[in-house]
Amino acid sequence: MTRNIFLESCNDLGHHIGENFSNNSLIIVDEALDKLNLHTLSDLQTKYFKVSEDTKNLNAIEAIWDIMFSSNLNRSSEVIIIGGGVLLDLAAFAASTFKRGISFTLIPSTLLAMVDASHGGKNGFNNNYGKNQIGTFNLPNNVIICSELLSTLDDRDYKDGLVELIKHGLIGSKEIFNQLVFSDDIKVDFETIKKGIQIKTDIVEEDFLENGKRKYLNFGHTIGHLIEHDSNFNLSHGQAVAIGINYELELSKRHFGLSQEVVDNYNLFLKKINFSNSYEFINNINDLIKILEDDKKSTEDSIDIVLLSDISEPNLINLSFGEILEVVQN
Ligand SMILES: NC(=O)c1ccc[n+]([C@@H]2O[C@H](COP(=O)([O-])OP(=O)(O)OC[C@H]3O[C@@H](n4cnc5c(N)ncnc54)[C@H](O)[C@@H]3O)[C@@H](O)[C@H]2O)c1
Repeated sequence: MTRNIFLESCNDLGHHIGENFSNNSLIIVDEALDKLNLHTLSDLQTKYFKVSEDTKNLNAIEAIWDIMFSSNLNRSSEVIIIGGGVLLDLAAFAASTFKRGISFTLIPSTLLAMVDASHGGKNGFNNNYGKNQIGTFNLPNNVIICSELLSTLDDRDYKDGLVELIKHGLIGSKEIFNQLVFSDDIKVDFETIKKGIQIKTDIVEEDFLENGKRKYLNFGHTIGHLIEHDSNFNLSHGQAVAIGINYELELSKRHFGLSQEVVDNYNLFLKKINFSNSYEFINNINDLIKILEDDKKSTEDSIDIVLLSDISEPNLINLSFGEILEVVQN
């Protein structure tokens, strides 16, 4: 099982790394973190690696394997990965397959990676057939959450993380939801981050391979995915999912009697972070149906979607493409 460790500062992180990992371990750091000088935190060999969603591919995996070979890692080494969701997914896959798999620790540096991508054991990369099409389920040894790493994250990436966090609130915690809606500051405190992580880890513990409950984490993502593709990825994942959640809340009212109050409060949150709650589609109906057909949650002309009866009461149902397209075009 993975151990979650919570630290406040980069100094604490340095001490922890120095005390807990053997000399033949390797630290791989997202190049975007260069300002934090993380290579000075310990004596372990540290390599910076530049990533982006566009280069989250097999070439990047090959480059990370090269770093692992040239660093002379062996089966007793630990790979310590510090970065956003892209680097964590890539390097965790590379570690999971290097010499048939060596142990790794994830240190997320974006809010999204802290509350979502670092938990649950999924890793992988994109190819011509879509996002995250190749990968494994393989849990990290440790996930170390260090709040100071967020100090250099820009607002847009931070807000993308807030969207995943409020989604955790909607499917599992009124406290998180209310905190995000009603607090004056858009920055969340460490306690709320910890509670968000707990929502995800509890679900994953019950349904690691996503045969049931883990699908609840897709709330907002069925329509979010449609919007993200329609915009040709010009909207960020967070912006698309934020709108997707709003449409899926509307469907939740229709199918499960969700109260208007929840929808109104969610819209207060979107207003606070200055994210849109609706979207004008660019593609025609046939192209939108094609996007829905390509979604792994689809079967013929319908798709699995998570809707809420209330906060913390998610349900998985199957809706026709026709109904999805009707709600997003109104
Ligand atoms: N494995 C999973 O379960 C899971 C779950 C959700 C998302 N994901 C994946 O996560 C990825 C998205 O993750 P993300 O939102 O963290 O994006 P990201 O990794 O692209 O990070 C966003 C940007 O911030 C930079 N960055 C990272 N940390 C920083 C910091 N502290 N200061 C300044 N800049 C920093 C990155 O270099 C990047 O430019 C997607 O590829 C998605 O598929 C995986």
